[in-house]
Amino acid sequence: AAPSTLKVLGTDYPADSYTNITPTIISKLSLQLHRQPAHPLGTLRMLIESHFPSFSHLSCLSPIVTPYQNFDSLSFPADHPGRSVTDSYYLNKDVMLRTHTSAHEVETFAKGETKWLLTADVYRRDEIDGSHYPVFHQMEGAEIFEATPSSMKKVEEDNEQLSAHLERSNIVIEDIPHITSTNPAQPSHDPRHSEIIALNLKLHLNSLLLELFGGVAGASKEEPLRVRWIEAYFPFTSPSYEVEVFFRGKWLEILGCGVVLQSTLDRANVPSKLGWAFGLGLERIAMILYSIPDIRLFWSRDERFLSQFTPGKISTFKPYSKFPACFKDVSFWLPDRPETQAKMHDNDFCDLARDVAGDLVEDVKVIDKFTHPKTNRDSLCYRINYRSMDRSLSNEEVNAIQDLVISHLKDRFGVEIR
Ligand code: PHE
Repeated sequence: AAPSTLKVLGTDYPADSYTNITPTIISKLSLQLHRQPAHPLGTLRMLIESHFPSFSHLSCLSPIVTPYQNFDSLSFPADHPGRSVTDSYYLNKDVMLRTHTSAHEVETFAKGETKWLLTADVYRRDEIDGSHYPVFHQMEGAEIFEATPSSMKKVEEDNEQLSAHLERSNIVIEDIPHITSTNPAQPSHDPRHSEIIALNLKLHLNSLLLELFGGVAGASKEEPLRVRWIEAYFPFTSPSYEVEVFFRGKWLEILGCGVVLQSTLDRANVPSKLGWAFGLGLERIAMILYSIPDIRLFWSRDERFLSQFTPGKISTFKPYSKFPACFKDVSFWLPDRPETQAKMHDNDFCDLARDVAGDLVEDVKVIDKFTHPKTNRDSLCYRINYRSMDRSLSNEEVNAIQDLVISHLKDRFGVEIR
């Protein structure tokens, strides 16, 4: 049976029907990769921070937040799918792990911060593959201004300087209008103010991307850096955008951003301000800049990984050989269940595999899924692909791990192996 309390970062939490945080996830909470200076994530944080020297740089906030911070304070609707236990990690129904750094917007604005960057580990339940990991790192950036003519005039001057800088650079930007009927200014905003703020946001981010990618993405005379802006939707910004960068023949999504919803600023007790915010994924960017091929490598403690990096310097990662993979399938019947009881979700299987086998799991795929027409029982088959980042695995070793996965499956979900 599940324990009735759990200890996380030194505090006891009563467990309930929401509790779904696993020992593997708990073990990540204290690691803070983004605060290790030589780690690629630490260096990337420092580089972005030095691009915004006049901003406050925050990076020590606890990952344990309330659903109010993560969702309600940002105007997420009550039925938003992100709130579900299949998508997010809960300690119990009142306490969860942040799924994004935006969870700290209200409290940070409420502290009186007007321009800030906030870097943190964030947690999402998801499938397992080379670019998804249940823990990753985001950086939130925001700046708010007084909604007065003189303050808006200063933003316009800033915009002119930033534009001049970008015009001199080798960057091709596919832009879209700042405001449209499908991506509107907020009713409480003077649309001219909203235009100025959205432009300021775009100029700041284009110049950041130029600095980060200008050297690597083949930004030569023949091959400039290509950035594209796309209309987006977030519950807590309007207008909203996503930004993609063209890299090695593909458009990669790098960040989300927009003009901060006025209700966020009202909740933070700064109703007379308006401004912008963005949130970017550090792993995505670091994988490109350092040529890191698998997201699990960020968690490696192997010296062959860690010793390759120097604080403050981007370098190309040299893979120390790719070790062979080994896959194992498991097929089983789920137990009969009352109509009211939830099915086992794919994310439940992934968390279980990760808990037993740790980072030896490279990916998990659903091979087969059906419901028996007569007995109404569900049959599932998953394929786990095992591969170590650091060494070769023997078949016996993988079999032993797979046996352990199977015995946990039986204990936890009462399945019948086929
Ligand atoms: N929090 C959003 C995400 O994780 C990104 C975002 C941040 C969007 C700030 C708009 C403003 O996808």
